Amino acid sequence: MSTHIGAAEGEVSPVVLMPGDPLRARWIAETFLDDARCYTEVRGMLGFTGTWRGRRVSVQGSGMGQPSLAIYAHELFTSYDVETVVRVGSCGALTEKLAIRDVVIASGACTDSAMNRITFEGLDYAPVADFGLLRGAVDAAEHLLSSGTAAHVGLLFSGDSFYASRPELTRRMAEYGVLAIEMEASALYTLAAKHGRRALAICTVSDHVVTGEETTAAEREQTFGEMVEIALTAALGD
Ligand code: HPA
Repeated sequence: MSTHIGAAEGEVSPVVLMPGDPLRARWIAETFLDDARCYTEVRGMLGFTGTWRGRRVSVQGSGMGQPSLAIYAHELFTSYDVETVVRVGSCGALTEKLAIRDVVIASGACTDSAMNRITFEGLDYAPVADFGLLRGAVDAAEHLLSSGTAAHVGLLFSGDSFYASRPELTRRMAEYGVLAIEMEASALYTLAAKHGRRALAICTVSDHVVTGEETTAAEREQTFGEMVEIALTAALGD
């Protein structure tokens, strides 16, 4: 039992998928896992363990933003000995190279959060994905994404403000090659590095910051499902 995750020892698998939305965690457990059982409901941040193709896996909601994700990732790594976390989320595209519903497999993540700056006393740390997971996800995406949906490997920007007050700064990030904006990957990569564990973030493009397009709920569900299969394959093998 830890402070924010109400699981007993041994109830969480060493491999965890991490959506931001706890109801997505339930949807993943019900849609993809066999014998899924809810191990925590603390603050409504649901977590489940079941099996996928006979292999044990957990799904834990992270909430929105880096401070929330950091609480759950820290407890997974320190109280439950979790080895692998794959974030499955959504993001806003910052460049026209990305189409709505495309998938971003994040090789690294920039941030405007002070969390790393405080840890490194003003130095800029470069949070990166585990290379084995990244390679596994790229391979899996080739087989699993439906035609018309592309996978892109590159940088995410993990911003602290969903309603950004300085959009010119996200435009500048795009000029420097950042593909999309979300709110969690940077803290996940940093914490995984701190604890010597593996992490990856995969995000579907739910909205387009340049064109203003948005996905419908049905479209989000379909691409989200394909992304979950990519994440499971990368984390557990096929
Ligand atoms: N900004 C931040 N986080 C997001 C976005 C966005 O536009 N879309 C999905 N997650």
